[in-house]
Amino acid sequence: MRSTASAHPNIALVKYWGKRDERLILPHQSSLSVTLGPLSVTTTVEFDDRPGDDEVRINGQVAAGSERARVVELLGLVRKATKQKLGRARMVSVGDFPAAAGLASSAAAFAALAVAARTAAGLPRDTRAESILARRGSGSASRSVQGGFVRWNRGRRADGADSFGEQLFDAAHWPSLRLLVGMVSREEKEVKSRDGMRTTVETSPYYPAWAKDAEAEVARIVPFIRRRDLEAVGELAEKNAWRMHATAFAADPPLCYLKPETLAVIERCRELRKKGVGAWFTLDAGPNPVLLTSKADEAKVVKVLQQHGAREVVRCHPGGDVVVHPAER
Ligand code: DP6
Repeated sequence: MRSTASAHPNIALVKYWGKRDERLILPHQSSLSVTLGPLSVTTTVEFDDRPGDDEVRINGQVAAGSERARVVELLGLVRKATKQKLGRARMVSVGDFPAAAGLASSAAAFAALAVAARTAAGLPRDTRAESILARRGSGSASRSVQGGFVRWNRGRRADGADSFGEQLFDAAHWPSLRLLVGMVSREEKEVKSRDGMRTTVETSPYYPAWAKDAEAEVARIVPFIRRRDLEAVGELAEKNAWRMHATAFAADPPLCYLKPETLAVIERCRELRKKGVGAWFTLDAGPNPVLLTSKADEAKVVKVLQQHGAREVVRCHPGGDVVVHPAER
């Protein structure tokens, strides 16, 4: 009753921003991301047959509060999904990238947890069921069960059975794509994605326009990815990031995740392009931009990031599926 799984985080090219169901974590629109190798989170789940409180350890610390509650809830869903009688669980999770990297570790963490917990409970591998379970921990985790380019389908059903991540192209489709995280700030963000998107849905007059536009953009980006057109993908990703942030700026109270350093890097991207270096940005709910570029231009883009505010640059490329480790007994 023990299993270990590793998953990569992901960066959305068309963002998820806003839920239509808070409990089931169902989005208002579809989204599309690239899974990020080589970063990963590795999680072990072990069920025993005695009842008792679950034990949750994240990066060497005993988890408490809402962090623990989200894991315990997911373990409860696994107990319900199996006919086996499962007692308390011990869960240990370790990420190989600092949470302070500004990249959300929750996508990788809940994808690894969903797969490890289901496997430990004796359930068969099933990427759809794993993605749906991961989604219950964190929406973006639904896109980290599979590698490469993954679309999280909005779905129509009230129970969420049609809202899961679906791989459109695997990691080998575009090995020369680079995603460079420029760490311009290590400050904890003031408003978490979960709260920020709720405020935006409830108060931003631009929200309905965002949801409609993002759904259309998911369909538009697919042929660009198919033909590995970095310029078209980059332009669309930038535009989508601006629109997500625009809808958040218009919330009440307004939400601004950008820092002066973020804008400086964005400005540099434009200058690089004028000089013939292909670099485009995207930005999650935080200040650290992720630059899309090619292997050929990677070194130049890293240098420019370092010269203009990034204290550290985390270099990523399209990563693979969740991996279940061979039984360690
Ligand atoms: C801006 O998946 O972290 O990174 O579902 O509330 O856990 P919850 O939110 P989360 O939000 C991610 C928001 C985003 C865009 C994206 O990854 O699509």
